[in-house]
Amino acid sequence: MRKAKRITIDVRAAEVADVDALTRLFTHRNAYAQTLQLPLQSTELWRKRLAEPSDNHHALVATVNGELVGNLGLTRFTRPRRAHVGEIGMAVRDDWQGKGVGSALMKAALELADNWLGLRRLELNVYADNERAIALYRKFGFEIEGTHRAYSIRNGAYVDSLSMARLIEGPRMPTDKRRKSDR
Ligand SMILES: CC(C)(COP(=O)(O)OP(=O)(O)OC[C@H]1O[C@@H](n2cnc3c(N)ncnc32)[C@H](O)[C@@H]1OP(=O)(O)O)[C@@H](O)C(=O)NCCC(=O)NCCS
Repeated sequence: MRKAKRITIDVRAAEVADVDALTRLFTHRNAYAQTLQLPLQSTELWRKRLAEPSDNHHALVATVNGELVGNLGLTRFTRPRRAHVGEIGMAVRDDWQGKGVGSALMKAALELADNWLGLRRLELNVYADNERAIALYRKFGFEIEGTHRAYSIRNGAYVDSLSMARLIEGPRMPTDKRRKSDR
């Protein structure tokens, strides 16, 4: 939970009941154009995604006064040698961007990835001109690793994307001295 400019942002797991709000979120132009989603997505597509979750996918949503304003998906890779790695994708409703929602979602995702899933590397792709998203990711410790040329099509033009990643040491061993409050 984060308070910013007198707004309380709650983050929780996505539910099947969020289907209409999630479909609506991706009718917002920035939300679909700056991700890999398509315009004109059906409610049925989101119902399927929510109804058939995989053990390796964690779908979070942010709400303000009970209204869904953003989402974040964290997926752990399943191939054995990539099991320490997770991938993140996210979007905030256009009218809620720049108000701390993305930060609240990212904070919750990192808490889950670092302290409960034990992931050591998180990666994501972001369009090279998406300054707000790049600023958010840098703020949370992601670094640019490289450029993918003509990675995706967006509104009639190919667009480059950046690979960004955040690496951490990993969970402490049981012998580590920890404050009780950390447990
Ligand atoms: C990118 C996105 C997820 C960020 O979420 P958000 O709620 O808008 O971000 P926040 O308000 O938490 O701001 C995060 C940081 O971005 C930066 N930022 C905010 N507004 C900005 C702007 N207009 N330009 C550049 N950077 C900006 C700031 O560093 C801010 O951190 P600070 O408030 O602590 O200084 C959101 O804007 C979004 O969904 N955009 C459309 C879809 C998208 O781009 N998804 C990501 C695909 S990789």
